[in-house]
Amino acid sequence: MDVLALPRLLIPVESLPGETRVAATPDTVKKFVSLGCTVAVERGAGASSGYLDDAYSAQGAELVAPGDGASWGQAEALLCVQTPSVEALRRLRRGALVVGLLAPYANADLSSALQSAGLSAMALELLPRISRAQSADALSSQANIAGYKSVLMASAALDRYFPMLMTAAGTVQPAKVVILGAGVAGLQAVATARRLGAVVYVSDIRPAVKEQVESLGARFIEPPEMDDKPSESGGYAKQASDAFLAAQRQQLSDQLAEADVAICTAQVPGRRAPRLISEDMLDRMRPGAVVVDLAVAQGGNCADTVVGQTVDRKGVKLIAGNDLPCTVPNHASALYARNLVALLEPTLKDGALSLDTEDELVAGCLIAQDGTIRRGDVLTPGAN
Ligand code: NAI
Repeated sequence: MDVLALPRLLIPVESLPGETRVAATPDTVKKFVSLGCTVAVERGAGASSGYLDDAYSAQGAELVAPGDGASWGQAEALLCVQTPSVEALRRLRRGALVVGLLAPYANADLSSALQSAGLSAMALELLPRISRAQSADALSSQANIAGYKSVLMASAALDRYFPMLMTAAGTVQPAKVVILGAGVAGLQAVATARRLGAVVYVSDIRPAVKEQVESLGARFIEPPEMDDKPSESGGYAKQASDAFLAAQRQQLSDQLAEADVAICTAQVPGRRAPRLISEDMLDRMRPGAVVVDLAVAQGGNCADTVVGQTVDRKGVKLIAGNDLPCTVPNHASALYARNLVALLEPTLKDGALSLDTEDELVAGCLIAQDGTIRRGDVLTPGAN
């Protein structure tokens, strides 16, 4: 068991462009203080998510200057949303713990930064999907927001209504929405599109999903019948073969040709996202249709989508959905900050932060300990 004395937590201003979230709210500061921690919050850390400095200090936070070397050097743990720069990590003292969405997959830069700075790090992406971990599951809290917002963006960009409407001028048919991937984001997208009155079709390769999709009032598109169906482990899909994906695209092509909206959420952790919409399939979609691709940063489910951009492709709008939680920063931060409390509360005992590496939850996401890489299987390029 590794014990870090006198838990002093630091909440930084997020440095990545476009990142509007913050890793603690005044409520979670209050909680950490009640658990015996000192919490330093960089001035302005919550400004873009609606949490003001005064609200943090009213709950016992110590406000510090952004990037202040002394504050970084004193912190036992840095609670962040995304990985700080290598230069910033070097400001932390050896043995300090970094907790956040650290994008660990095949991340050689992160690996060498943690080793050279002698840091410990917990990557929330690697939290095992067990029921005890649900309250700390940041992938889920953020994916839920992304699924919801993707449908709102699609409905705002679409040249049609979502619901069926009977008006004096005639009847309007409901929009047809096809959702690819029915994990956390996909199921929230189904629920949101149904609430807006759309007819919803869903494709996923995990058989368990069918019942969940149908219970939300959507229709399930059965995966292609093939011998080499992708398997699943721990609730996640495994990577599908090229032949399977080709069969799936053929099957989806007719559905998409009649669709008004496609919401793409299909992912396989640590892998390139499956390509489910090809250029040929886009050619068959009607001008005015909208595609929102939540997997765009992982290579995209849809051809021609570009991170951070909306592309007009022969009248079909291709919207990048890589940063949707950042467009709902107040709630995204509140939920993320609560995830961090749920993760760290059991490790805060007797005025110290102690990591029980025998605990399945800690062992899963502790990628480095005092500069020694523990999850080389994930961090090393080509290892997954
Ligand atoms: P994800 O973001 O990795 O993937 C999204 C969806 O894409 C998955 O449903 C996957 O089956 C699907 N997909 C992959 N390849 C596809 C393809 N070729 N065509 C169509 N769909 C494809 O997954 P997410 O949303 O992070 O979670 C997946 C599941 O994990 C959840 O549905 C749930 O069962 C489980 N889970 C368990 C939790 C817990 O017990 N603590 C918490 C959250 C999720």
